[in-house]
Amino acid sequence: MKIAVVHGQLHKGSTYHITRMLLEKLNCVKEDVSEFYVNGIGDCVGCFQCIMKGEDTCPHRRQTEDIIKALEEADIIVIDSPTYVLSVSGQLKTFLDHMGYRWISHRPYPSMKQKIGVAISTTAGAGARKTTKFIASQMSWWAVGKTYQLPVTVSAMNWEQVNAKRKVQAERKAANIAKAIRHKSGHVKPGIKARFMFFLMKQMHKGMDYNPVDMNYWKEKGWI
Ligand SMILES: Cc1cc2nc3c(=O)[nH]c(=O)nc-3n(C[C@H](O)[C@H](O)[C@H](O)COP(=O)(O)O)c2cc1C
Repeated sequence: MKIAVVHGQLHKGSTYHITRMLLEKLNCVKEDVSEFYVNGIGDCVGCFQCIMKGEDTCPHRRQTEDIIKALEEADIIVIDSPTYVLSVSGQLKTFLDHMGYRWISHRPYPSMKQKIGVAISTTAGAGARKTTKFIASQMSWWAVGKTYQLPVTVSAMNWEQVNAKRKVQAERKAANIAKAIRHKSGHVKPGIKARFMFFLMKQMHKGMDYNPVDMNYWKEKGWI
């Protein structure tokens, strides 16, 4: 079971520790886990190169390609972020912007539909669910077949402040998700919503010649 982890923050606070809990519960071999921190990726400049000319023409491709390759090779994708102003960290959003070309409306990676995604966030008081929902929706747009969410309200500014009861509750949630992942792994089938979206995009690409890069990709894959 290969796991790619994308941390939306460089520091090892509550969010990082909740992600660690999940990885421990998944009981995976260390060598099967690739971890990345998205800090330092240049802001998307809106040049449309990735979408219109190909991802290798993105001015920040060198900063993102290893992460994207790991996501494509993984069976399980874990993405975490602390909740900042009711959403993801700015640095994670920057990385997600660079995945726009992998949206189902452009050039989704074929095996995404067999993968499992996990969205993790912690918050002091409000917004963790909103944040995990946003991360999970991004993964759905990449065509990830099944997503789980692990939002945790820690009532704290750092991991040391989190009380023991909350840590036990978080551990229980992580254990339940790990159990569900083990059960589902290798048997992921895209749901009706995902299949409908794929059908819609297929119709769109059949009649769309404004972006030959996308259209040729769909043709090469035998989808149209
Ligand atoms: C810039 C910033 C914005 C934040 N926004 C929120 C927020 O909208 N809602 C909330 O309840 N907590 C908010 N917090 C608190 C963090 O979400 C919370 O402490 C979280 O557990 C931090 O995770 P970390 O230890 O992994 O950094 C914010 C913290 C920072 C630094």
